[in-house]
Amino acid sequence: MTRADFIELGYLVAASLFIIGLKGLSRPRTARRGNLIGAAGMLLAVVVTLIDQAIVSYWVLAAGLIVGSAIGVVLAVRVKMTSMPELVALFNGFGGAASVLVAGASFVEAVDLGLVDTETSTAAAATAIIGAVTFTGSIVAFAKLRESLHWHGFSGIRIVNTALAAVSLALAAMVVIDPGNTMWLWALVAVGSVLGLLVVVPIGGADMPVVIALLNSMSGLAASATGFVLNNTLLIIAGALVGASGLILTQIMSVAMNRSALSVLFTDAPSASAGVDADEVYAGKIRSTSADEVAMILETAGRVAIVPGYGLAVAQAQHAVSELAKSLEANGTEVVFAIHPVAGRMPGHMNVLLAEAEIDYEKLLEMDVANPTFAQTDVVIVLGANDVVNPSANTDPNSPIAGMPILEVGDAQTVVVIKRSLSPGFAGIPNPLFAADNALMLFGDGKVAVTAIIKALAEA
Ligand code: TAP
Repeated sequence: MTRADFIELGYLVAASLFIIGLKGLSRPRTARRGNLIGAAGMLLAVVVTLIDQAIVSYWVLAAGLIVGSAIGVVLAVRVKMTSMPELVALFNGFGGAASVLVAGASFVEAVDLGLVDTETSTAAAATAIIGAVTFTGSIVAFAKLRESLHWHGFSGIRIVNTALAAVSLALAAMVVIDPGNTMWLWALVAVGSVLGLLVVVPIGGADMPVVIALLNSMSGLAASATGFVLNNTLLIIAGALVGASGLILTQIMSVAMNRSALSVLFTDAPSASAGVDADEVYAGKIRSTSADEVAMILETAGRVAIVPGYGLAVAQAQHAVSELAKSLEANGTEVVFAIHPVAGRMPGHMNVLLAEAEIDYEKLLEMDVANPTFAQTDVVIVLGANDVVNPSANTDPNSPIAGMPILEVGDAQTVVVIKRSLSPGFAGIPNPLFAADNALMLFGDGKVAVTAIIKALAEA
């Protein structure tokens, strides 16, 4: 076996491990093993690449590894669990930027050596536009998730974006037609960067889940295109896997928001219901309760559904809620968790937190399964969730979440909502559920409130 055969075989095994690992990730039970298999594939890929590409000195690689790892460790240790989605947005952006730099450098080198062909120039053009849009788009998504950017652009921004997209395509064509002039490529990167900024800026907060999934997919596509520039099979396969799984996630998120990815990108989000006044929705209709009263209601309940939301992550109430479920079950109550696909701030956010507290997967119900069961549920505990249980998605066509399927918790006999105040959720709108006749508000931090209920149950 020649050295080249050995390298190709190594890449083939690594790519197979990625695919097997991904298969494992599709089920909670096999996810941990899937992760390990994927990581083993990555280790093999790194080792084989180091053996294959002895062009850069190992000292330079080691320096990059140390600096990159140091930044990664500091970020990972310092980031709060609730800021994880922002970090993921940044990672997507860095992925796009890295693809642009690597493919760009390789393209310039190929031009200098006179080795550039149509395949390389087409792949470099694809990397430049996808990678640049991903980089700046992700930075804007990061700022929006941090709530440090509230700008929604200017009127006519969609027309400007259409014009920028047309200019990008023209520049991409020039990269292929006239590859000897590398200025076309850098001009494409510049225009793509502005396009990424302006495409994501007008997207309404409520559509963020779709955007994040889409940017994730694009970072994979950029890497895959880079693989064609470098002639690296593994990068092509790994990038395509990220691109495809990101697209599937985009589709799932779009269905969950009742929006298509195209309409998120190219049409205005439903206007925020500026007319809906919180006072009008809540005045005189809010009934607050205490942990003791909630414990009394729970004691006689046959079936309880818990709906976690972003507030669960903020309060880090997952262990407390697991304990509450156990104490209710010890009393003979059936307990389930109803999970909305966009609850929290990233795909699978609630599943990760509940898995951390070792809550059995069998008890987690998806929205479609949970909704028909609420009418037979005695008590729903809404824990730090807001938008995902907001009935105005069904009733107010001007709402920013209009048409989004919600968890229909109002069908239950009693709804207990645990949150700190009447503040809105991510979409920034009041929630008529809190004023419903069967709703009780338990105001307080999620973990403190749940712990108080457990204590009251134990003392009863
Ligand atoms: P939200 O609608 O954002 O509501 C969260 C609620 O948690 C807030 O109203 C807040 O009320 C409460 N809260 C905050 N800290 C708390 C604490 N320590 N204890 C108790 N409650 C606390 O959450 P949701 O229902 O999960 O909906 C998710 C929203 O985020 C959707 O609009 C979705 O589109 C959007 N989004 C989702 C994603 C993904 S992929 N999942 C990504 C980006 C955006 P108080 O301040 O009154 O406590």
